[in-house]
Amino acid sequence: MAVTIKTEHEIELMRESGHKLEEVHNALRDFIRPGISTKEIDEYGEQLIRERGGIPNFLNYNGYPASICVSVNDEVVHGIPTRKHILKEGDIVSLDAGLIWKGYHSDAARTWGVGKISPEAQKLIDVTRQSFFEGIKFAKAGHHLHEISRRIGAYAESFGYGVVEELVGHGIGTHLHEEPQVPNFAQKGRGILLEPGMTIAIEPMIDIGTKDVKWMDDNWTVKTADGSLSAHYENTVLITDGEPELFTCTKEEK
Ligand code: MF3
Ligand code: CO
Repeated sequence: MAVTIKTEHEIELMRESGHKLEEVHNALRDFIRPGISTKEIDEYGEQLIRERGGIPNFLNYNGYPASICVSVNDEVVHGIPTRKHILKEGDIVSLDAGLIWKGYHSDAARTWGVGKISPEAQKLIDVTRQSFFEGIKFAKAGHHLHEISRRIGAYAESFGYGVVEELVGHGIGTHLHEEPQVPNFAQKGRGILLEPGMTIAIEPMIDIGTKDVKWMDDNWTVKTADGSLSAHYENTVLITDGEPELFTCTKEEK
């Protein structure tokens, strides 16, 4: 499947999808506190998605058993929510969520602190978020895709952090995962030329320590190989002739 250019009508539906997802994330942010289980986050997230007329797109995707990926501390992505896993003060928790609205997908991730967190953890969260914004300075028509990748990676690496290479961002639209792949580190080639109407999910995953990751026996949960903390930040982005439009981030998150 080639990279698709969305029509004005499709863009409007993706915008609506993204705005709903932004509301879901903001409500989840306010819900996070010590003592709740990761399963409660998933249940509340699914409720928030369905209340808005959306369908959770992660649920049953390749067999993934939840609506929200909840990844704590050294879990990078795709953590599976459980009743036994209780958040505690000082944890950091990455929430990856998505929904389908009128056939159009949105996808976004945030990492939040649980109660008071260490300065080191807060810095990781802030740099991960900023790496996304460094990258999207080049998310406009006329630039090549891998300029985004290179800028994200270079920014995060300038802090000595590990930039995860084994998982990447992606095109998005009528499917959760479309072409092109969007890596978060420098590539050999320049990548596709960006055009107005392309919609991509850009999602840096950054570790305090090594960039290497390992898969757990549940076949989903990805952890850092060295046990260091990891953060994730993602938005669904529209390429235009000018500034990119962030469907899932129209307001300041914090
Ligand atoms: N945001 C993730 C991605 O882009 C979440 C999908 S994984 C799922 O790949 F299986 F849980 F859906
Ligand atoms: Co994604």
